[in-house]
Amino acid sequence: MTRVFSGIQPSGDLHLGNQLGALVNWVGMQERADCVYCVVDLHAMTSPAEHDPATLRQRTVDAATTLLAVGVDPERSILFVQSHVHEHAECTWLFNCIAGFGELRKQPQFKDKSEGQESVSVGLFDYPVLQTSDILLYHADEVPVGEDQRHHIELARDLGQRFNHRFGEVFTLPKAIHPQAAARVMDLQEPTNKMSKSTSSEKGVVYLLDDPTRIAKKIKSAVTDSATDIRYDRDAKPGVSNLLEILAAATGRSIEDLAAEHDGHGYGAFKTAVAEAVVELLRPIQQRHAELAADPAEVARLLDDGAHRARTIAADTLQRAKDAMGLLPRGAA
Ligand code: TYM
Repeated sequence: MTRVFSGIQPSGDLHLGNQLGALVNWVGMQERADCVYCVVDLHAMTSPAEHDPATLRQRTVDAATTLLAVGVDPERSILFVQSHVHEHAECTWLFNCIAGFGELRKQPQFKDKSEGQESVSVGLFDYPVLQTSDILLYHADEVPVGEDQRHHIELARDLGQRFNHRFGEVFTLPKAIHPQAAARVMDLQEPTNKMSKSTSSEKGVVYLLDDPTRIAKKIKSAVTDSATDIRYDRDAKPGVSNLLEILAAATGRSIEDLAAEHDGHGYGAFKTAVAEAVVELLRPIQQRHAELAADPAEVARLLDDGAHRARTIAADTLQRAKDAMGLLPRGAA
C-alpha cells in the first residue's frame, strides 16, 4: 500500500492556505493510502524570536485538535507529535553527515528566512534535514504539501538517494503531491505573497477558526485591481486569480468554468460567492473543533497512541540506517 507522510508546524493558527494547499489532500489520501501525519514541533523552534515555551505547547495541542477536526482519522492514520518520537532528531544527525553545507545554504526557505536577520539559528539552517528525516523514516512514497515545500521534498529525495548509493538501499524516495488548484494560496491583502502564519497583517489571512462574519469581511476586502473582468492571470491579476483558485478548491469546480460564470457580474458578487464557499467549507470543521476542544484528555490519548505506532516504524528504519552506516550495534563487538 502507498505510504503517505506529511507534517505541519504548530507555529500559529492553521489557515486557508494550509487547508487548501495540503490538508484537503491529507484527508483525501486516507481513502487509498497508509497515512502518517505529524505536528512538527521541533521545526517550530527554529526561529528563536518566535519561540515561547508555553505558546509552543499550547499551539501543539491546538494544531493536533484542528487536524482531527479537519478530518484526519486516528483510526485509519497515524497522528503524532514529532518530539514524541526521538528517532527524528537522531536520524537528522545521520543525514547531517551526508548533507552538504552548500546545498543547505541554497535552500530558498532558508535564504528567505535568514536574509537581513541579525542572528540565525543552526536549527533554521538544518531545518530541511530534519524534514528529510521525517519523511524518510516512514518510507513515504507520497508527501501531500503546498507548492512552497517543493524544494524540501527534492532535498529529501536527493539525500535519500545519496544515502542508498553510499550505504545500501534503506530509504524510499518520496514525491510531492500538490492540489490541482490552490497549491499556493496568496495573502488577500498582498496577493503576490503567500498566505502565511507569520504575516504582517491578519486581514490577509483566513484562519480555519475565523467566524463567518470575519471570513466574509476579509474576503470582501481582498485586494483585487481597478479593472472589472474576472479571468485567471497570475501576473496581471494576482488578486482575482487567487480568489478564483480559492473558489475552485473550495467547490471542486474548474477555474475556467468559474471565471466564465462570474465574468461580467462585477467583483462584489464574485467576492460574495467566494466568501460563501469558504464559510461552507469551514463550517463543519469549526463544529468538530468545538467538540474536540472540549475533551483535551482524548486528544492527548490519541497523540500518545499515534506516537507509539509511529515509533514502531521509525525505530526500525533508524536501526537499519545506523547499521548500514557502520555504527556498532549495542552488545556487538
Ligand atoms: P507549514 O507548517 O508551513 O505548512 C503546512 C502545510 O501547508 C502548506 N501551506 C500552503 N499551501 C498553499 N498555500 C499556502 N499559502 C500555504 N501555506 C502553507 C505547506 O506547503 C504545508 O504542506 N516544512 C513544513 C512542515 C514539515 C513537513 C515535513 C511537511 C516538516 N516536516 C515533512 C511535509 C513533510 C512547513 O513548514 O509546513
